[in-house]
Amino acid sequence: MSINLRSVGILGTGSYVPENKVTNFDMEKIVDTSDEWIRTRTGIGARHFAAEGEATSDLATKAALKAMEAAGVTADEIDMVIVGTCTPDMLLPATACLVQSNIGAVGSAAFDIETACSSFIYGLEIARNFIATGTYNKVLVIGAEKLSSILNFEDRKTCVLFGDGAGAAILGPVEDGKGILSSELGADGSKGMVLKVDAGGSRMPATEQTVADKLHYLSMDGSEVFKFAVRIMGSASQRVIEEAGLTLDDIDYLVPHQANMRIISSAAKKLKLPLDRVHVNLTEYGNMSAASVPVALDEAIRAGKIKEGDKTVLVGFGGGLTWGACAIQW
Ligand code: ACO
Repeated sequence: MSINLRSVGILGTGSYVPENKVTNFDMEKIVDTSDEWIRTRTGIGARHFAAEGEATSDLATKAALKAMEAAGVTADEIDMVIVGTCTPDMLLPATACLVQSNIGAVGSAAFDIETACSSFIYGLEIARNFIATGTYNKVLVIGAEKLSSILNFEDRKTCVLFGDGAGAAILGPVEDGKGILSSELGADGSKGMVLKVDAGGSRMPATEQTVADKLHYLSMDGSEVFKFAVRIMGSASQRVIEEAGLTLDDIDYLVPHQANMRIISSAAKKLKLPLDRVHVNLTEYGNMSAASVPVALDEAIRAGKIKEGDKTVLVGFGGGLTWGACAIQW
């Protein structure tokens, strides 16, 4: 029996980044670092931190409402809400349920996914499958993080790298030949411990000692993640381009995860793309994990850098270790 699959695309995007901008010079006052070190090693110049009392679902809700407006989709049309985050409001309920209620889409399916910086691309592929088979028509996919809530501001190796933000997209059926042409998701759990938050889960529940030992904060072996990222960004992108029946020359624009300028440059080089056809916003926002790709995508679309007819690759990697890439025809 053959199933007729529908083509699925992004109908509208939105993003929200908190107002509070913290520059590298501000970070110099918090931890033993320098603007020069951060810029030369990462390309990051600033990051934005959420206000006290502002949680991931608040950022996600703002991005979602903008995506719904851009797509011309109302809350009652949304069949499913997926939130990708490693900084949920709380362990239970899922942040997606809070967002679903905030936007007035009660009754839709709602759940979180946790594949760190790859979460948005994982969410796109989950949405694509539900829509392609005709199970659902409109799915809201969000990547949102309040990473400032899990940063150890005494650890200069991590706290200078991350920021808060949210990006969202509404997916739905599109005309044949358009939308997501190909996609790849992957993970290497054997390297999971290179990027982790030790405490607060079932293996090490929260105690006074875990808090005193700062085990609820993110820790990372940066160079291991770096090597993995350089390898996977270029190779996963190349595979989705090939699977879509395209060549490197066909690609108009690359929207990569925003962790480190050196990682982005190496991916661009592998894809033979000049940097003016690669979206870079880490200078202003740092690494927003699950929010990086959708915020960058929304910025690129609103700035007219991605236009009707363009072919784009989205690619990300992150904790897990995970990765995801997809090729999109607009
Ligand atoms: N300011 C000043 N010095 C610093 C800082 C800082 N903020 N951080 C580290 N250093 C020092 C180190 O202590 C070290 O000094 P030492 O040689 O005296 O010990 C020196 O700088 C070099 O440190 P390295 O860690 O070797 O620096 P490197 O060039 O590898 O850059 C970095 C580190 C930026 C973290 C890089 O490895 C990287 O970008 N890795 C990828 C991280 C990433 O992509 N994470 C994304 C996943 S995030 C997610 O999924 C949530």
